[in-house]
Amino acid sequence: MPDEYRPTEWFEPLYRDAGESGAGPSWAHMETQPSFKAWLDQKDLKGGDRSALVVGCGMGDDAIELSSRGFKVTAFDVSESAIAHCNRRFPDSDVTFLQGDLFAENAGWAGRFDFVLEIYTIQALPPRYEDEVIGRIADYVAEDGQLLVVAIVGSEERSFESGPPWALTPDHIQTFQRRGLTVVDRIIREKASKKGDDVWITAFQRSTENE
Ligand SMILES: C[S@@+](CC[C@H](N)C(=O)[O-])C[C@H]1O[C@@H](n2cnc3c(N)ncnc32)[C@H](O)[C@@H]1O
Repeated sequence: MPDEYRPTEWFEPLYRDAGESGAGPSWAHMETQPSFKAWLDQKDLKGGDRSALVVGCGMGDDAIELSSRGFKVTAFDVSESAIAHCNRRFPDSDVTFLQGDLFAENAGWAGRFDFVLEIYTIQALPPRYEDEVIGRIADYVAEDGQLLVVAIVGSEERSFESGPPWALTPDHIQTFQRRGLTVVDRIIREKASKKGDDVWITAFQRSTENE
């Protein structure tokens, strides 16, 4: 990997050039992300005024979904233009949309959120960052809080040349577990586009028993 490589710089132009329809970022559904929706369809997730954080929120639909379920939602993305889209699309929502970087210290966020949602951000960053990014996401989860991770998981060894996206491997679950989280449920959905890759929807819980 070249030294000057900056792992997040390719997102901003995609969102800057995206039209009202969201055309540009290939992952943007402009509605609740389908795998997240599949998980929600099996749950009765209610916020009850609890806090939620959406990591790499993109066009903002998943944050709006959580807000509609009663969560007090903060949603952030490294792309300023993505956040501008969110604010333009959802001007009346109660969601706090923020430009922010997973690689930065986000003061006051450690252990603060009752529900953390991560969809496809880890795999959008090269494998060498995986431990750091997983550590930061896991650390946002409050005591007794939950983390939901939607990721493409394959069996192939990850290398810089093979992505993006850099499909995770089953081992990434252990990295979350090392950060004090326990798997509470998992749905695996087949992904047609690349043989051997599946979409894993994994729910984790933090509790003191894991420390
Ligand atoms: C593959 S997209 C997924 C977006 C959204 N979660 C979805 O499923 O539609 C990855 C997102 O993570 C954001 N992102 C990448 N690196 C980031 C970082 N270091 N901090 C915050 N957001 C980041 C990108 O701008 C992009 O919106």
